[in-house]
Amino acid sequence: MADLRTRLCGIELANPLIVSSGPLTWSARGIRRCFEAGAAAAVTKTIARAAAVNPTPHITGIGRGSLLNTEKWADLPASQWIKHELPALASADGLVIASVGHTAQEVEALARDLVRAGADMLEVVSYRAADMVSLVKTAKGLTDVPVLAKVSPNWPDLLDCVDACLAAGADGITAIDSLGPALHVDIETGRPALGGRRGYAWLSGAALKPLTVRIVADVCLRHPEVPVIATGGVSTAEDMVEMLMVGATAVGAHTTPLLKGINWFGRTVDRLGHWLDEHGYASPADLRGLALPHLVETDGESHAPLVFTFQAGLCNECGRCVTVCAYEARELVDKEMHLNEDDCRSCGLCASVCPTGALRCE
Ligand SMILES: Cc1cc2nc3c(=O)[nH]c(=O)nc-3n(C[C@H](O)[C@H](O)[C@H](O)COP(=O)(O)O)c2cc1C
Ligand code: SF4
Ligand code: SF4
Repeated sequence: MADLRTRLCGIELANPLIVSSGPLTWSARGIRRCFEAGAAAAVTKTIARAAAVNPTPHITGIGRGSLLNTEKWADLPASQWIKHELPALASADGLVIASVGHTAQEVEALARDLVRAGADMLEVVSYRAADMVSLVKTAKGLTDVPVLAKVSPNWPDLLDCVDACLAAGADGITAIDSLGPALHVDIETGRPALGGRRGYAWLSGAALKPLTVRIVADVCLRHPEVPVIATGGVSTAEDMVEMLMVGATAVGAHTTPLLKGINWFGRTVDRLGHWLDEHGYASPADLRGLALPHLVETDGESHAPLVFTFQAGLCNECGRCVTVCAYEARELVDKEMHLNEDDCRSCGLCASVCPTGALRCE
């Protein structure tokens, strides 16, 4: 059985799965539940001196494993985190990462006390890329625990911000925060689905995954030695594998366990172990960065026609491969696959949507 233990900034985790900052980590009680369910570490809901008052409603499902939210930071004040919540996690079976933001003043006021109260690491987060360096410097100056900088896909200069945070002393990067602003309107009422300014909201969950993979890859190509917590759209153990392959050290998730229930953590960690066994890997660290050498800048694009394999025994005749071909190049008759090579543009879509693996391209 694969050994799932993972080292993050020099600290050992039981496995690479972390519950990222959000409602599930609203308090010690919430965090403890996630640990019991199988998360190896937890990032608290972002802590600020004053408790947040959230608009109602502030979270809505939008289908396909994704959410919009207009939730602010923690609705427990920092004083409660410092006096009660963090000390209550002292004996908990997991690593506690205190999220603090969104300004250097908040970090200055809270970082030391959060660590004294029991935080094993800090994660600094801001709405503005320009503020991140001062948050990192302040946290590093006041504490001796590892400091993670959380970066947002909403910043056009995300990679510059990563460089600057690392130069300022950040020990690792959490990528990414939710994306937005986005909007969902209830078509029965014509009103925004969520409260808050114009109902403008933040997108999280499955819709984010390819963006997260690309950003994590960009960060890891630039800084292969830096620990990155890949966060955004992870909903399966296979998604975790993908994040590790583009260089992540650990993987964060919030939307999926929120939607599916926290037992998702244990199920996903078990599945990751089996996946590693089935594929002959000894640990998550063996996957780290495996995809990066393949992300090459190509000047001569490949135009060779795709070569397909079709295994009739695996085909359930769902017809998806035929439906998605814009050029009507495929036909399935009595489990016999026909391809009109003159019409086929080698786009690859048909094989990518085959649910059984009957149709593949090499
Ligand atoms: C309802 C909700 C509240 C969140 N609150 C915070 C927060 O307080 N601080 C923070 O850094 N990220 C917060 N996030 C962002 C998540 O930590 C995470 O970066 C993002 O949702 C992408 O991961 P996911 O797709 O697995 O949810 C929140 C996400 C959700 C869904
Ligand atoms: S590769 Fe594209 S064009 Fe060719 S058969 Fe499949 S979907 Fe059609
Ligand atoms: S998508 Fe796959 S399973 Fe469905 S008909 Fe095509 S080959 Fe068969």
